Amino acid sequence: YDDSRKVRNIVFENLKINGQAIYDDMPGKPRWYSPADYVPMYVGNHTENIVFTHSTGAFNPDIPLAYCASKVNRALEQLRPYDFTMMPRNILEGQYQWNLRKAKAEEWCSGFWPGILWMDFNYTTSEAVHKAATGYTDALAFLVGQPAFDHDLGFLIINSFLKGYEQTKDSRYKRIALRAADTLATLFNNKVGTILSWPRHVKDYGGHNTIMDNMINLELLFWASQNEGSKRLYDIAVRHAETTLRHHFRPDGSCYHVAVYDTLDGHFIKGVTHQGYSDHSMWSRGQSWAIYGYTMVYRYTHDQRFLDFAQRVTDIYLKRLHETSDDWIPIWDMDAPASMQEKDASAACVVASALLELSQYVDGKKANVYRDAATNMLSDLSSPRYQSGENNVAFLMHSVGHHPAGSEIDASIVYADYYYIEALLRLKKLITK
Ligand code: GLY
Repeated sequence: YDDSRKVRNIVFENLKINGQAIYDDMPGKPRWYSPADYVPMYVGNHTENIVFTHSTGAFNPDIPLAYCASKVNRALEQLRPYDFTMMPRNILEGQYQWNLRKAKAEEWCSGFWPGILWMDFNYTTSEAVHKAATGYTDALAFLVGQPAFDHDLGFLIINSFLKGYEQTKDSRYKRIALRAADTLATLFNNKVGTILSWPRHVKDYGGHNTIMDNMINLELLFWASQNEGSKRLYDIAVRHAETTLRHHFRPDGSCYHVAVYDTLDGHFIKGVTHQGYSDHSMWSRGQSWAIYGYTMVYRYTHDQRFLDFAQRVTDIYLKRLHETSDDWIPIWDMDAPASMQEKDASAACVVASALLELSQYVDGKKANVYRDAATNMLSDLSSPRYQSGENNVAFLMHSVGHHPAGSEIDASIVYADYYYIEALLRLKKLITK
């Protein structure tokens, strides 16, 4: 190291000095083990995020979190000088760096990179990461000056401005998120009782379409209604969740990707797929959106119906996962034939993050089942089978974007990394609670 290059993101695991285990929250922690305390004039000024942990045999989120932090630094080095309007999207086989896409309403993944940076900042408190997070977030501010292109406005704003607001309490971020919530609500069809997810596909599907992914975006409406936004936003989000619950699922609790409704009288016409293997198959990421979505809806409503439903959609996912996978990471579609059984790490990341939250809302045995499942998912994701390591600058490999379109099959994809770091932070918080 030198003045411009800090020693960063080192985890000392099970360090023993004179036979004594050294870890951050140890009782009676000696002053001398911290580099900043030891030689503050020299070493301490050149280090950042040095973690001391001791393993208890349990999965320790600090280790993958430090890994993520070092990957973020490496990616940021590659991205300099920054063009904040170009957002990491994927890394395909054999590539090392992120493929970038222009930030725009049509590019639904534009918010994930700023969100990763905000979460990494939350962990490392690195000023350089904070600066980058601010720049990439601001590059999305233009979205609130235009009509909603589609439901993905929620993903774009929740991941960037809301994550940033959590860290900074910047009132400008709040104002932008509130305006975006009002814009998202313009897609609501009161007759149907849901948001029109893809206005551009109304003709293709023969009616008002709502996709399961849209459940995630209700968070923007709920959040806004609790933060000086209109009560109407809350009512819209609840109606959307209720209507989806009624029509978007098969009797076993697995979901269609797309539900099509009559635009004028609102009746449910059909359930079909867009990114899954078939209309009746279980597309893993679709089901992961349902698990995450209904858990989040319960967070805001405290309505038992939604908590019961979150468990129902989770339990079928876990059952099918065990039937179809050799580990805790699903095949991209649980009904895909043997010739196309690529894993989808991104679905596992979404589910792991959701189950850590869900485990907080249920009692005893069920809480343990969900927390253990999430920990097992994170443990598998943190193994060399899924971590990118030296292969590329992403956290993880082996996600599937849009299999039927032949796009992003077995790739590193930015949203897998986003939900992975979110889940790791949630687990760390639970452990230290
Ligand atoms: N929201 C699109 C996807 O899950 O791929």
